[in-house]
Amino acid sequence: SNMTTIGVALLTVSDQASIDADADKSGPTIQAILKEQGGKFTCHEHLIVPDDISQIQDVVKKWAQQDDIHWIITAGGTGFGVRDHTPEAIKPLLEREASGLLHLLLSTSLKYTPLAALSRPVAGTIGKTLVVTLPGSVKAVKENLQALFNGGLVEHAIDLIR
Ligand code: MTE
Repeated sequence: SNMTTIGVALLTVSDQASIDADADKSGPTIQAILKEQGGKFTCHEHLIVPDDISQIQDVVKKWAQQDDIHWIITAGGTGFGVRDHTPEAIKPLLEREASGLLHLLLSTSLKYTPLAALSRPVAGTIGKTLVVTLPGSVKAVKENLQALFNGGLVEHAIDLIR
């Protein structure tokens, strides 16, 4: 029902953070920002995996089946680095792509830095779950989440699918 809070699952994708969880700065940042949204979101899961396509896919597939998870956020692995393959992991799992969200994230981010052109975000739905990939830096996750919350956009998207 859309009367309950929106359940979020958060996946940090980073070789370094998978070895040393203290290196994960974006995960705690996303959790703090979700908490600031007046109780609209509850983070049910937070995992860290290395930049490995199978491990990313195993977690996202499992979460997409969970009734209490409406929004899967990944952070990291979207860039041009040779170890960056979050988009390649997520894209084949999506049932419907949300190109509008990509345009929003990229056009907003390009106002902050031309390096946003090196992020290769994907977004879309798997069943009743929204999936959005964010870049890995703290600065980038703040800027991207602000764009998604602006005008109640992400709540509206989730209310339409759950
Ligand atoms: N988007 C925003 N809004 N702000 C940023 O600072 N950094 C960029 C980009 N997107 C950035 C951003 C940088 S430097 C990179 S390398 C890419 O996201 C990819 O980041 P990732 O490989 O950690 O996913």
